[in-house]
Amino acid sequence: PAGAPDRSLARKVTKVGVVGAGLMASQMALLFARRLEVPVVLTDLDQSRLDKGVGYVHAEVDKLLGKGRVSADQANRLKSLVTGSLTKDAFADADFVIEAVFEDMAVKKQVFAEVEAVVSAECVLATNTSSLSLTEMGAGLAHPERLVGFHFFNPVAVMPLLEIIRGASTDDATLATAFAVGKSLRKSSVLVKDAPAFVVNRLLTCFMGEVVAAVDEGTPLEVAEHALDGLGLPMTPFALLQLVGPAVGLHVAETLHAAFPERFGVSENMAKLVASGKPGVYRPDFSLDPEAVALFAGGTSPSTAEQVRERVLGALSREIRIMLDEGVVAGPQDIDLCMILGAGWPFHLGGITPYLDRSGIAQPRFLPPGVASLPA
Ligand code: 3HC
Repeated sequence: PAGAPDRSLARKVTKVGVVGAGLMASQMALLFARRLEVPVVLTDLDQSRLDKGVGYVHAEVDKLLGKGRVSADQANRLKSLVTGSLTKDAFADADFVIEAVFEDMAVKKQVFAEVEAVVSAECVLATNTSSLSLTEMGAGLAHPERLVGFHFFNPVAVMPLLEIIRGASTDDATLATAFAVGKSLRKSSVLVKDAPAFVVNRLLTCFMGEVVAAVDEGTPLEVAEHALDGLGLPMTPFALLQLVGPAVGLHVAETLHAAFPERFGVSENMAKLVASGKPGVYRPDFSLDPEAVALFAGGTSPSTAEQVRERVLGALSREIRIMLDEGVVAGPQDIDLCMILGAGWPFHLGGITPYLDRSGIAQPRFLPPGVASLPA
């Protein structure tokens, strides 16, 4: 991967700690156990959360067994590798500890301070933050050089991308270890600068922000929701929001708004959806929930589907240009890779930048003529 340090610098990982036992943390614990085949210990604040997290892993292992992906022996071994602990002492001999707790800088700093008190000075501290600054997170650490961003995508077992984020202090050995672990997990890693929301979340939030703004202005939700269906994306915007969770989506939007207020808004209606506690605008049977949809009503200047499509693609094109100028990744192909592997951007379009080039939306082009062009 562009910018990855010499792989010989990587340290061996023989035990993994996961802080948090929520859905993201449990999905990660399963993946680490399955691919690294080392003990994985989850910690959380109370026994019932721990039981739920470990229970999720066991249930997923049973599904793999049912599909014939693992043998009965492997299933038993996998289950025994994943355990829960109420205290962080269990991390004492871990070489890699990753956190997936609530997206709050103070909470994450507190967690790492507690972890640092029990682990060795060389243990890698990884954060699965979806948008917060690595450099700020590492500021209070005794050894900030071992902090690295390790950002997975939902569903963790399925999406092949890992964004690896280097903070101001992250050293080469830590980064090399992160890339080696990513490879063992069979993910494709992309090195990303410590910039707000990194790559995929920045672009998905840009996308979602334009769709939601159109709805807030009065476009019927179903019109905005399906305005980009022609692209062949795996999910519609509100379905994706539901997969990720509206609270996470709102949080990333707030982070991006704080960083770039002129381009990223925070929808009041979205905040109402989060406050309502609903999982999203869809019911479990994927019909629209009229109460949730009503939260977005009241706008007075509707757009057509074509207008929504234009504003979304135009905004994505502008944002990608800014990200490349900022050096968030090495080049346009890294953006393409991130969107294909992390958000299921249609593979047959050759990537988002060739698509924006070909369709004439990107002015000037991102790539030289001939790269992923269609025959004239
Ligand atoms: N959990 C675990 N496994 C799942 C799953 C889930 N929620 N959803 C699907 N799968 C598995 C299925 O079991 C199946 O596995 P199998 O091949 O072993 O049987 C496999 O995925 C394919 O399932 P389907 O055929 O049902 O899947 P689809 O073709 O409908 O694809 C999808 C499902 C992969 C989720 C696809 O819709 C997609 O790519 N969506 C976009 C997801 C996306 O953009 N994620 C990024 C969000 S941003 C983020 O997470 C960052 C964070 O910081 C907010």
